[in-house]
Amino acid sequence: MPKLIVVTRDGKEQEISGEAGLSVMEVIRDAGIDEILALCGGCCSCATCHVHVDPEFAAKLKPMSEDENDLLDSSADRDENSRLSCQIEFGDHLDGLKVRIAEED
Ligand code: FES
Repeated sequence: MPKLIVVTRDGKEQEISGEAGLSVMEVIRDAGIDEILALCGGCCSCATCHVHVDPEFAAKLKPMSEDENDLLDSSADRDENSRLSCQIEFGDHLDGLKVRIAEED
């Protein structure tokens, strides 16, 4: 299974495995990391699954939708590497992806 590296808000790195086809949000949640609230369950309407993606992987991600972009605008911690993790489909093409969980808004 592809690996995902998650940096939690205290700066600790954890390497977890995730099933291809799940979203990055689901992979993080299923690993028991509770800093991702994912209040809307992954339907792109809450922004509580905000992460900062390692820029090395930026080219491998699908472009964000207008809805995702609008939601990220509501976050004070937004930067050029911000994405909603429920909108990133995990898989072998993202093996080794590193994401840092954004600050809580
Ligand atoms: S879980 Fe709500 S926007 Fe991602």
